[in-house]
Amino acid sequence: MRMRSAATATVLTTALALALSGCGQSGAGGAKEEKGAEKPTVGIAMPTKSSERWIADGRNMVSSLEKYGYETSLQYGEDDPDQQVSQIENMITQGVDALVVAAIDGRALVNVLQQAAEAKIPVISYDRLILGSPNVDYYASFDNEKVGELQGGYIVEKLGLKDGGKKGPFNVELFAGSNDDNNTRYFFQGAMNVLQPYIDKKQLVVRSGQTRLNQVTTLRWDGGLAQKRMDDLLTSSYAKERVDAVLSPYDGISIGILSALKSDDYGSANKPLPVVTGQDAEVASVKSIIAGEQTQTVYKDTRELAKVAAQMVNALLDGKKPEVNDTKTYDNEKKIVPAYLLDPVSVDKGNYRGVLVDSGYIKASDLN
Ligand code: GAL
Repeated sequence: MRMRSAATATVLTTALALALSGCGQSGAGGAKEEKGAEKPTVGIAMPTKSSERWIADGRNMVSSLEKYGYETSLQYGEDDPDQQVSQIENMITQGVDALVVAAIDGRALVNVLQQAAEAKIPVISYDRLILGSPNVDYYASFDNEKVGELQGGYIVEKLGLKDGGKKGPFNVELFAGSNDDNNTRYFFQGAMNVLQPYIDKKQLVVRSGQTRLNQVTTLRWDGGLAQKRMDDLLTSSYAKERVDAVLSPYDGISIGILSALKSDDYGSANKPLPVVTGQDAEVASVKSIIAGEQTQTVYKDTRELAKVAAQMVNALLDGKKPEVNDTKTYDNEKKIVPAYLLDPVSVDKGNYRGVLVDSGYIKASDLN
């Protein structure tokens, strides 16, 4: 069941080739040679430790860069955009050779990246696209619109709406991520690509009427805020009706939504839980899926993402062109940022073992 796209395989092949050619230390005049014995340092700015995935991202970035022979400086901004700006400023002052940044607020880094450009420090935008700055060199991420399509598609399939199946109507509510994260609109757009035709045909009904992105975002992806909004929706729109599906863009939000649902007796004998989607395949959510609560998540292999970003850093510091597979999609308002996009995978109770456990992403013992 292990799924791996051709694109991912190419990255792995490249990484392997680099490893075999002496950990990528080959380039004539490359940064590592210029500096003699001193290893170049890569600054890694991650958004928060409040979620498991970013902890893994930081760890994977460090180990992927170490394989190429780099030192690293890893900082977490604790979801505070100002703190992240000052962390990056410090990295620039300390003289890092490259930056890998997963932005908290995609628009907050314009000035600090100008400083990076003046110091000739290349910048990789990691997972989330940095907006409004010409000083973003490359983007390593997943096919973010596809993430949303997998979530929306899962709802349609699970409710049996596809291919002349049940007609509904079914009640659905929509949640989106943080409005300052560029990924949010891609996830939402992808999901609505699939859901909107059924909403138009009234086979899906959003009882709250909240269908526009700016009505459904969740600041900083906060599960507590999502729980509160779900509580409010249940009170205002579901006193007599039952909600059949909830579009959730991220596992932390799904857990909040499920708490609200369970407080309202969903999950009891005559009130089944709705279909609830998610993203990141976090351990708590995979356990919830196994327990029959959360229904689905979208797995994005952060180990591969770190390899892609490290490959980009290494190419740039060796004076070469990083490998990309997308040069059209990610316009950050100043330029189209060349990207390498990995494939997300939909996971539910039926395939979690093959996709997550057999690939070593999650240990079977962590799911007990
Ligand atoms: C997004 C990311 C998702 C999820 C979310 C909340 O930017 O692409 O996978 O992690 O942030 O952390």
